[in-house]
Amino acid sequence: TGGQRLLAPGSLHFLSLLTLVSIPTNSISTDCARWCPPKSMCVNATACRCSPGYISSSGEIFTSVLESCDDINECGPSSTVSCGNFSDCQNTEGSYYCTCIPGYELVSGARTFRNKSENMCRDVDECQLKPRVCKSRGVCINTQGSYTCECPPGLELNPGDPNLCTDVNECTLGQNPCHTSTHCLNNIGGYECRCRPGWKPVPGSPNGPNNTVCEGAETSDHIVSGTHTNQAE
Ligand SMILES: *[C@@H]1O[C@H](CO)[C@@H](O)[C@H](O)[C@H]1NC(C)=O
Ligand SMILES: *[C@@H]1O[C@H](CO)[C@@H](O)[C@H](O)[C@H]1NC(C)=O
Ligand SMILES: *[C@@H]1O[C@H](CO)[C@@H](O)[C@H](O)[C@H]1NC(C)=O
Ligand SMILES: *[C@@H]1O[C@H](CO)[C@@H](O)[C@H](O)[C@H]1NC(C)=O
Repeated sequence: TGGQRLLAPGSLHFLSLLTLVSIPTNSISTDCARWCPPKSMCVNATACRCSPGYISSSGEIFTSVLESCDDINECGPSSTVSCGNFSDCQNTEGSYYCTCIPGYELVSGARTFRNKSENMCRDVDECQLKPRVCKSRGVCINTQGSYTCECPPGLELNPGDPNLCTDVNECTLGQNPCHTSTHCLNNIGGYECRCRPGWKPVPGSPNGPNNTVCEGAETSDHIVSGTHTNQAE
């Protein structure tokens, strides 16, 4: 070829000699162990070094072909990593990261960090979130790491949804609060005791859900009236 014509046979020999001489100082092919397992690189012809985040059973550098490089659990009990207060350590393949525990967040708005010195986990004030976390008439109370919804009288937290206040149906509870001469009408947040149809409040009967007492208009000789104590007789 054209290239051959540019070099004298003697200089070709000289070049290959140069290549041979330079092998020990800068060639990878002969100085590098070829058996280095995944997640490792050769150090020289007889040793491999695990990639950062990985370790073999005989350490970072090893000389046995039987070794493998396994993920270091930086979050494990013997680890030197410390994420700090209100945080969780999450191990990953070859690495790790720290997150704030639920109910806490980094002041910076970042999601992760790597060192206790970067831990800025602060309580989230859920009561300032939009939309409001407590639905209906619930009153939000912020707590460290969480919040609660408190319900006004006559409402209670929904057992299936701790953010939702639902009406208590006082009329279906075991103890109907109304006098037997009335019927109970549930409403949101309370109840009413109303005279049965055609009945009227007993004159002078005190008002109030538990005290309304009614009498049947046509059966005045069988007035159903009186207080709870009278009934108990
Ligand atoms: C290869 O590297 C290992 C670890 O640094 C060292 O102990 C060993 O002596 C080296 N071998 C050669 C032939 O340089
Ligand atoms: C982390 O918690 C410990 C124990 O609760 C406390 O003594 C320390 O002051 C806290 N550190 C920070 C930075 O809040
Ligand atoms: C965490 O930060 C401290 C202080 O900046 C530093 O001394 C330490 O080496 C760091 N640790 C890690 C695992 O990066
Ligand atoms: C009305 O009666 C209910 C059930 O007996 C009771 O729990 C409630 O305290 C009473 N309310 C008043 C204002 O007396």
